[in-house]
Amino acid sequence: MFSKYKKPSVPLPGAAGSAQAGGPRPVAVAPKAEDARQSLMKTMPARRPAEPGPGDKDKRRKDRLQELKLDLHKALLENLNLAALETATEQELRTEINAIANETLEEMGVVLNRDERQTLSQDLFFEVTGLGPLETLLKDDTVNDILVNGPQQIFVERNGKLELTDVTFKDERHLLRIIDKIVSAVGRRVDESNPYVDARLADGSRFNAMVPPIAVDGSLVSIRKFKKDKLGIEDLVRFGAFTEEMAAYLQAAVSTRLNIIVSGGTGSGKTTTLNALSGFIDDAERILTIEDTAELQLQQTHVGRMESRPPNVEGKGGVSQRDCLKNALRMRPDRIIVGETRGEEVIDMLQAMNTGHDGSMTTIHANSARDGVSRLENMIAMAGIEMPIKAMRSQIASAVNLIVQASRLQDGSRRMTSITEITGMEGDVISMQEIFRYQRVGLTPDNKIIGHFTATGVRSHFSERFKLWGYDLPPAIFEPMVAE
Ligand SMILES: Nc1ncnc2c1ncn2[C@@H]1O[C@H](COP(=O)(O)OP(=O)(O)O)[C@@H](O)[C@H]1O
Ligand SMILES: [Mg+2]
Repeated sequence: MFSKYKKPSVPLPGAAGSAQAGGPRPVAVAPKAEDARQSLMKTMPARRPAEPGPGDKDKRRKDRLQELKLDLHKALLENLNLAALETATEQELRTEINAIANETLEEMGVVLNRDERQTLSQDLFFEVTGLGPLETLLKDDTVNDILVNGPQQIFVERNGKLELTDVTFKDERHLLRIIDKIVSAVGRRVDESNPYVDARLADGSRFNAMVPPIAVDGSLVSIRKFKKDKLGIEDLVRFGAFTEEMAAYLQAAVSTRLNIIVSGGTGSGKTTTLNALSGFIDDAERILTIEDTAELQLQQTHVGRMESRPPNVEGKGGVSQRDCLKNALRMRPDRIIVGETRGEEVIDMLQAMNTGHDGSMTTIHANSARDGVSRLENMIAMAGIEMPIKAMRSQIASAVNLIVQASRLQDGSRRMTSITEITGMEGDVISMQEIFRYQRVGLTPDNKIIGHFTATGVRSHFSERFKLWGYDLPPAIFEPMVAE
């Protein structure tokens, strides 16, 4: 009886009617209308290329619209009653924006066709209420990531592949204005002395920006979009991320409270996998989640969510994942889930796994199970814990039972390329055995990877445990696929 856990809905930063606490509204710049018109005059002729080619006309038209938009935006900022913006409905706002825009266009003597007018009106609405050029990409459900490399180059990731879009900012100032709008809505600041910032958009998307001079060719922005409906186990099986047999094994692993680490590179599907695996947790359990950016969407009833917080500009008020984890241990959890272990919190995570919070899970950034273990060792060392390597390893070996490797392959497909059990220590070395793997066999002419999942034929170290807990997996699950 899983009841859907709903995130409280929060309005977009800077959206009409939003009651964002803290931070001034980032609309303090209100240049004169004359400036707006002058800048249009100045820049328009210069844009005429010497030899117009066939694509140039479209480009010119786009540039012209882009210019107009900026100028109109300035006029809007001057004429709109910003206080009234807070309470206006979307319709009122659109009507008001269109009225001011039409008037300004008329004063400028600019005539637009219906399409242009519509695009302009929509874009202006986004400029005033939302995130400008980014807004359409944010609203596009097929887009996973948005990557801005300076004002003129915006990539998106769809289906695991990067694509260059034709969306652009007018210039660096325009881009900076949008960045400023986003970060000031969450009470942060970004400028020359604080050149990078991590934030979460009100819709849950993760936002990171780095501005010049550290970003050499213009501000860099990365947005990992928040998926309202996270992929579940069935979806992932359907997409070929892993097989039903692997899913059955994972269900047994989660239900019998193995401690699990999902390992993988950036964007390989770690969080998605962690979230899907959590679906196997019994609804009666008390789960505490700890994340740097709250992304997980557990379906259980009894979930306590924590999100760490970086220090403010004065360096105060920071609450680390480690702080959250320490406190979580006093909050009687049945399971602890840490979104991503990247630093000193590794100590407390391993300790939690070793001291009765079985069934805890986290993700790490690593390229294989072996590599994952080295990462854990590194993190322990970096946390300043002086411990003989053997002691460190036996701590890891007794804490972690399973490493699940998520990978994004070069054709964009995301797969669970390995499921590996940690079985103990042999001398100074952590012993592990792979149970399932993705076997690549070749490439199609259009560079799609050909391969299949297979069991390795190794008997699970946990079969007895599974059986005792009532998960009697059919032996066929563990039989390797025979090549035809
Ligand atoms: N098996 C999959 N098939 C298709 N899309 C996936 C799959 N796994 C993850 N994704 C998508 O890939 C993106 C990155 O996944 P995420 O779990 O956030 O990666 P990570 O945590 O490793 O950075 C998300 O938009 C997610 O919806
Ligand atoms: Mg992640």
